[in-house]
Amino acid sequence: MNLPATILVGLQWGDEGKGRVADWLAAESQIVARYAGGDNAGHTVYVGTRVYKLHLIPSGILQPGVICILGNGMVINPVNLVREIDELTTAGVDITPKRLWISSKAHIITPAHIALDKASEKARGKDAIGTTLRGIGPAYLDKTGRQGIRAGAMLDPEAFGDSLMEQVERANVQVLAAGLDPHAAAAEYVEAARRLRDYIRDTVVSINALLDAGQRALCEGAQGTMLDIDHGDYPFVTSSSSTVGGALIGLGIGAKHVDRVVGVAKAFSTRVGAGPFPTELNDEIGDRLRGTGENFWDEYGTTTGRPRRTGWLDLVVLRYACMVNGVTELVLTKLDILSEFETLKIAHHYSGVDVYDPPSDPSQIVPPTYTDYPGWMEDIGGVRQWDALPENARRYIDAIQAALGVPINTVSVGPERDQLVHR
Ligand code: IMP
Repeated sequence: MNLPATILVGLQWGDEGKGRVADWLAAESQIVARYAGGDNAGHTVYVGTRVYKLHLIPSGILQPGVICILGNGMVINPVNLVREIDELTTAGVDITPKRLWISSKAHIITPAHIALDKASEKARGKDAIGTTLRGIGPAYLDKTGRQGIRAGAMLDPEAFGDSLMEQVERANVQVLAAGLDPHAAAAEYVEAARRLRDYIRDTVVSINALLDAGQRALCEGAQGTMLDIDHGDYPFVTSSSSTVGGALIGLGIGAKHVDRVVGVAKAFSTRVGAGPFPTELNDEIGDRLRGTGENFWDEYGTTTGRPRRTGWLDLVVLRYACMVNGVTELVLTKLDILSEFETLKIAHHYSGVDVYDPPSDPSQIVPPTYTDYPGWMEDIGGVRQWDALPENARRYIDAIQAALGVPINTVSVGPERDQLVHR
C-alpha cells in the first residue's frame, strides 16, 4: 500500500540541508507542511541563479501548485511572516491563501517573547544557550503555560491587538529594561493580522481531508534531532520536538499515514550555539570545513550569520538519531565539501568504555574514537551518476550506510537543485 505522508527530519544539530531536500521531495508531493519551530530556522534553496532563504514558509512554496502549511506545532512571528511573504512575492513566487495555510492553533511570537529570550540569555551569562534570540523559548513557554496567543486570534485583529498589548505590558514588568511600547507593538501586529487573516484555517482538518483523498504530504522538519527538547543535549536545545513524533503532533495527523522517514545528515558535523560537540575541530581542518563565508553555502547561520562550529562526522549521534526517528532512508548532503582531503575521519564510537549512544547527561560525553578513510582528490560538483562518484567517496558513503543499517541512496554534491546524485 502506498501511504501518503513522508516525514523529513534533521539528524544532527540543524543546518543539515533539509531545505534543498524538501525542495526535491516537494516535487512529488501535493502538500508540504512545517511542523515545529519558527523563524529560528533558515532553509536555503538555490534555484537557477536565485538563492531563497526561508525561515517560516515551507521550502515547498518554490514548487508551483504545492499547498504549504504552517502547522499547529509552530510558533509564528506574524510581522516576520508578512515580510517573508512580501520578499517571496517580489521574487516572483506565487503566494495566495489558496496555497499557503496557517494553522489557527499555531502560537504567536510577540515582542514580549523576544525581549524575554534576550533577557534570559543575558542572565545565563557564560552558560547561555546561544539561542537565535527570536523569542522561540518564551513563546513555547507561554503555550505550555496556557497563556499564549494563537494564530486564530488574528481573525479578530482588534481583540488580538488588545491581548498583545497586555502581554507586552507584562513583559515590561518582568524585564525591567525591556522598554517595549505596547501601543506601537499592537499597531504593528494588528497590521500583520489584517494581512494574514485570509491564510488562517483549521489546517488539521484540511490536511487530514487531503491525506484521506490520497494526496501526498511532505512533513518538513526544522532544527535537528540533537536540538530536540526531549532527545537533544538538554538544556542546549530548542523548545520544540524536532524529531519524528513532533510531526504527528505538530500537524495533527495519525501514524497510519506515514510510510517514509527521510533523515538528512551532512557528510560532516556542524553546530551553532553552545552545547556539547564531541567531534569538534578547532584547527585549520575545521576552518576549511566552515569556508570563508564568501559563499552562501559556507557554514554561517542563515538566521543569525554566526559562524558554525565544525567537526568530523559523528556516527554515535547519527545512530541515535536514526533510532529515535525510525529513519527509513538517509540523504547525505555536502559531500563535495569533503573533496580534496587526503584523509577523512569518522567517529564510530566514543572512547574509554566504547560508548555507542550519546549519554543523556552531556557532561558525561567522552572523546570520540576515529577511523580513517582515504579521501578523494577531485572535485565532484559535476557528478550526476552514482558510478561516476570517486571510489573513495562511495566507500565513505557505504561505511556510513553499513554502520547505521539505513540505506543511503541520495547524496548532494553542491547547492544547486540538480546537484543531487541518486544511487
Ligand atoms: P532557539 O531555538 O532560538 O531557542 O535556540 C536554541 C538552540 O537551537 C541554539 O543553540 C540555536 O543555535 C539552535 N538552533 C535553533 N534553530 C536552529 C536552526 O534552524 N539551525 C541550527 N541551529 C538552530
